[in-house]
Amino acid sequence: MKPFDVYPVFPIEIEKGIGCRTYDKNGVEYLDLYGGHAVISIGHSHPYFVQKLTHQAEKLMFYSNSVINKLQDEMAEKLGKMSGYDDYSLFLVNSGAEANENALKLASFHNGRKKVLALQKSFHGRTSAAVRVTDNPSIVAPVNAGLEVVFTPINDIEAIRPLLLQREFSAVIIEGIQGVGGIHIPEASFLQQLEALCFETETVLILDEIQSGYGRSGKFFAHQYAGIHPGLITVAKGMGNGYPIGGVLIAPEFKASHGLLGTTFGGNHLACVAGSAVLDIIKVEKLVENAEKVGSFLLSELVKIPGIKEIRGLGMMIGIEFDYPVKEIRNRLLFEEKVFTGASGSNIIRLLPPLSLTIADARLFLERFVKVLETKPVVN
Ligand SMILES: Cc1ncc(COP(=O)(O)O)c(C=O)c1O
Repeated sequence: MKPFDVYPVFPIEIEKGIGCRTYDKNGVEYLDLYGGHAVISIGHSHPYFVQKLTHQAEKLMFYSNSVINKLQDEMAEKLGKMSGYDDYSLFLVNSGAEANENALKLASFHNGRKKVLALQKSFHGRTSAAVRVTDNPSIVAPVNAGLEVVFTPINDIEAIRPLLLQREFSAVIIEGIQGVGGIHIPEASFLQQLEALCFETETVLILDEIQSGYGRSGKFFAHQYAGIHPGLITVAKGMGNGYPIGGVLIAPEFKASHGLLGTTFGGNHLACVAGSAVLDIIKVEKLVENAEKVGSFLLSELVKIPGIKEIRGLGMMIGIEFDYPVKEIRNRLLFEEKVFTGASGSNIIRLLPPLSLTIADARLFLERFVKVLETKPVVN
């Protein structure tokens, strides 16, 4: 049997990672400005994280949700304190899409409505409801198409108002910062008006912080720049630094009942220890503050580089848009300069480094980036 061939891959086999660097099977070192797609928050193979996981694996990796699991309580308490959502509850799952799937479901259970409003250029995952609220018809299979969804432009509250006033929408789902769509940041005033409109119309506001959360934006959650409090917040990616874990933070007005939601693997012992260790390291190493500091430095230096159409971003989530496809720039960064970067669409380079990136490593990236741009490919 072979893996189902759905991923275009670089001809590089990564074998090892330490902090913001990865190493291929020949020992070649790469600077990681991609973080394995925003997953690596505390850095690769952090010794404290490895030690905590190893210790737990030796004791117990998994038991089902039918027994007391104090590790879940411990992680939920830490997450509540660090995120500023102490009064919310936590439902644990295994991935981002599953977090959004459960959030959409919970919203619909809560107000009994069926329709969902999402934003143009959104990405929320590939499971049934999550992919339906993703603005990309090419990945929506006929079996996913049942949910009624309306897409409106980002930062356009007047396009949303008449729809929500119909009082037929169960939820509005929106990313803290649009990632796959190209690093588009919702304006604070838009989010504040959206929160008020959702409150007025009893629509649940779901903030997808799967990519933008866990400190990446320079605040624990990107929506905290706007001072709003969504009913549901979804998390994954950086939450486990590579260990598969996701979650839904649930406001107090949502009532739990036995059997309402469920999962076999979600919240297992090893996952909780991974999630807890990540939070410990984020706190001790002040990684949210570091994301803000090093991210601001990167942004301030990137704007000085000529030939770039636009720079957008907050903290360690940065989009560098060009007038032409970036494939060749990214390939040369990777193969000649040994730097991993991400992309959004064809013309945007996306930086999603570990939150522990230092100013020195940011400078190293900038040097290599400028070197590649100075000999940029001929546009055709
Ligand atoms: C904003 C956002 N939501 C949801 C997802 C889906 O997460 P997963 O791939 O863990 O299902 C992603 C993944 O890229 C994402 O960026």
